[in-house]
Amino acid sequence: MRISYYFAAALLAAVSCTPRNAVEADYNVVPLPRQIELTGGNAFRLSPGTCLVAADSSQAVNATLFADYVETLAGFRPEIKSEAPSDNYIRLTAGNTEAGPEGYVMTITADSIRIDGSDAAGTFYGLQTLRKAIRGSKGDDVLYPAAVVTDAPLFSYRGAELDCARRFFPADSVKTFIDMLALHNINRFHWHLTDDQGWRIEIKSRPKLTEIGSKRRCTLANTLFEDTLIYDTIPHCGFYTQEQMRDIVRYAADRHITVIPEIDIPGHMLAALASYPELGCTGGPYEVMCRWGGSEDILCAGNDSVYAFLDDVLDEVAEIFPSEYIHLGGDEAPVTRWEKCPKCQKKIHELGLKDDEHCSAEHKLQNYLLAYAADRLVAKGRKIIGWDEVVGNGVDKSTVIMAWRGPHGGYDGVYSGYKVIKASNWYLYFDYKQAKEDSIGAPYDRMIPLDSTYAYTPIRPEYTPEQTALVIGVQGNLWTEYIKSFRDAQYMALPRMAALAELQWTDAPKDFDGFKKRLEGLIKVYDAEGYNYRPL
Ligand code: ACM
Ligand code: ZN
Repeated sequence: MRISYYFAAALLAAVSCTPRNAVEADYNVVPLPRQIELTGGNAFRLSPGTCLVAADSSQAVNATLFADYVETLAGFRPEIKSEAPSDNYIRLTAGNTEAGPEGYVMTITADSIRIDGSDAAGTFYGLQTLRKAIRGSKGDDVLYPAAVVTDAPLFSYRGAELDCARRFFPADSVKTFIDMLALHNINRFHWHLTDDQGWRIEIKSRPKLTEIGSKRRCTLANTLFEDTLIYDTIPHCGFYTQEQMRDIVRYAADRHITVIPEIDIPGHMLAALASYPELGCTGGPYEVMCRWGGSEDILCAGNDSVYAFLDDVLDEVAEIFPSEYIHLGGDEAPVTRWEKCPKCQKKIHELGLKDDEHCSAEHKLQNYLLAYAADRLVAKGRKIIGWDEVVGNGVDKSTVIMAWRGPHGGYDGVYSGYKVIKASNWYLYFDYKQAKEDSIGAPYDRMIPLDSTYAYTPIRPEYTPEQTALVIGVQGNLWTEYIKSFRDAQYMALPRMAALAELQWTDAPKDFDGFKKRLEGLIKVYDAEGYNYRPL
């Protein structure tokens, strides 16, 4: 008994004396920091004895997230304190007026790492750089070379969209998607919540939207491009309660991400029409759509009850989502029903709308409807995003245009003086396949491989400085018609989200080989976090 006790004690002593392995970190991460100045001297060693010093509550959240990241990658968890010890600490502060918005200055010496963010988001991005710089394995210490890293993003709006209407993903998967965004320094989550194939947002004053609209009977099992369409017989259902959405808004805010909900009007509304048939021009009956592609049936703009419906829905949307911007869609809305609908035609007549060479009376009516909804939100201090179709309808200049059709296109709102978010379906649509041989992804002719996304230039060379200033950001979109599971959604998003992050963060000269090399470090994080991705 005694012998085995001494044997165990000796073994323990031997283990604890074994020097820990340490692997040098590399600040050349994705997205590439603006400036990395290696200052020489001894490196900082992140080890189980290192503590994180958080001066206020927002830094305490940052510190907790970083402790999680270190635990996942390095296998130990730094302790969080509010006061700095004499050495071996990472101190998080905000309020650095030298760093640009969401920027940071990170000073690494042998004794400490100090991250001075312009705000809590800036500090968080410094921590993301430290996280992504880790090169060792679980159990290794991390040697951060002495350096000053100075960094700030190029664009203030760095977005990614997830379509939870075509495919319902549980709230936990949505949170994982938000974690993926945080890893890529993305700060806007565009949440596509309503469409022809499903209504996913609980609206308490309109319960049928989820009782009926969140359920579709079946789903297209082959593709829209087949001669014969085949359907499964599996109901597809699901919606987010207001409590779940508020929780997701908080979860995102902790990661410095704003959730922007999209309620797409007046098209892509079949799930709402199935719930309340009186909102359509014909009165139905309507059914939540089982196939992909649009519908001729859209909200009837001549029907007073549609305006009351918009009031009810948007009031609750604004209560759930505190974001500056609310997305009102406006894409792919055929006006064929409106051309024949007596109520829509009466409204056109009452409003005195007339065809002209730029815009039909029906498209002007569409603009009227959008303006009605926008006014409701503007009165609450919000701003509106619309898909680029709304430019042609003469939408108000305060609307931010999400430019999706074509590489830049004649649709580019920049030339008409709108603020624009670039979300080109030639480069930034992550539902398109990454390679012809891939089995996951939409069966479209165009592929969007990683190098294509990486090569995209959101600022056209011919833009004037004024036009350049109108581009407030860049976004990648993940539509889910042909994406059957959240694992597949990850496969589609990664690693193209890394190329997106690079466009959003930096205008450093393009170097695809260098990017790919940096991506290898990021893929270690994908692996550690258990994310599915398309191998390089
Ligand atoms: C879109 O892809 N219809 C915006
Ligand atoms: Zn109508």
